[in-house]
Amino acid sequence: MNDYENEMNFEDRILETAYTAEDSETEFSLRPRTLDEYIGQEKAKEILKIYIDAVKLRGDTLDHVLLYGPPGLGKTTLSAIIASELGVNFRVTSGPAIEKQGDLAALLTNLGQGDVLFIDEIHRLNRNVEEILYPAMEDFALDIIIGKGPAARSIRLPLQRFTLIGATTRAGQLTTPLRDRFGVLLRLELYTPKELAQIVTRSAGILDIPITEDGALEIASRSRGTPRIANRLLKRVRDYAQVKGDGCITLESASAALRMLEIDELGLDNTDRRMMETIIHFYNGGPVGLETLAATIGEEAITIEDVYEPYLMQIGFISRTPRGRCVTKLAYEHLGIPYQPAGASPDQISIDE
Ligand code: ADE
Repeated sequence: MNDYENEMNFEDRILETAYTAEDSETEFSLRPRTLDEYIGQEKAKEILKIYIDAVKLRGDTLDHVLLYGPPGLGKTTLSAIIASELGVNFRVTSGPAIEKQGDLAALLTNLGQGDVLFIDEIHRLNRNVEEILYPAMEDFALDIIIGKGPAARSIRLPLQRFTLIGATTRAGQLTTPLRDRFGVLLRLELYTPKELAQIVTRSAGILDIPITEDGALEIASRSRGTPRIANRLLKRVRDYAQVKGDGCITLESASAALRMLEIDELGLDNTDRRMMETIIHFYNGGPVGLETLAATIGEEAITIEDVYEPYLMQIGFISRTPRGRCVTKLAYEHLGIPYQPAGASPDQISIDE
């Protein structure tokens, strides 16, 4: 049996950034409704505010927007806010949900003037579907082929001017023609602990959970820069504080609850630690290729890239080199493993190191 078979799998992970059924219960009520209520992403908000005001002044439609960055940062929420600030309808779909050209044509022909169509995971659109998006984005027209073979002809249907907001965790996977049709490209960044503490405090207020300032900061600093994780941890810590204490989330109850969940002071769980320990013990700290690492720990390469790595790179624990991933000195220190420079085999290490 493989060493890792008993480990939690990705779907069970409390630090999972993907949207789960449990999130949907509360995420809706916790969602900010206006740009002013939306905490963090100051740069993106500043840019959006200017464009939204300009569009409103001119009575125009907003250019197509591409939002990219790690999962769980609020791309859908921000898009809904854009539509609401513009005073237009908001239609939501996702790349994998649009199977045929006809599915997209139906969505596009139902849009009103200035409406926002949000396509999540836009990098997963199939190429056939993507092709009808080009004239729709550029000329607000739908090119439809009628008939087959030599008798086939194309007719052009006009559409209302609309705004497409595409969201992706991987801007690099978009085809160039699609990427080039977005007028506004915005990268969402991981949140700072201070911003996450504000989000946790706001959510606790809405959910009627008593919380102290340092309790909120404790949850925030273990949420890997991601509001979705922060809100999920808030609910788990609330359970703990109610059962083991008086229901108030304090520094002590938050840190005890998170210790029980095996989430350390930096927000790392067993999966993160296992990944870094694998690089250290099996590959002398790296470099190790992404595919090799994925096979060794039994995860998909894409999961490592989208879910684990962004935060580990942000806190300086993993570096990406042309030859693969390396674990940094900081990570060795955090894991309590004596440091060996990446790539060095144990017999190259001198005793006093
Ligand atoms: N809840 C989730 N994300 C949020 C954000 N950016 N601002 C306020 N509340 C949030």
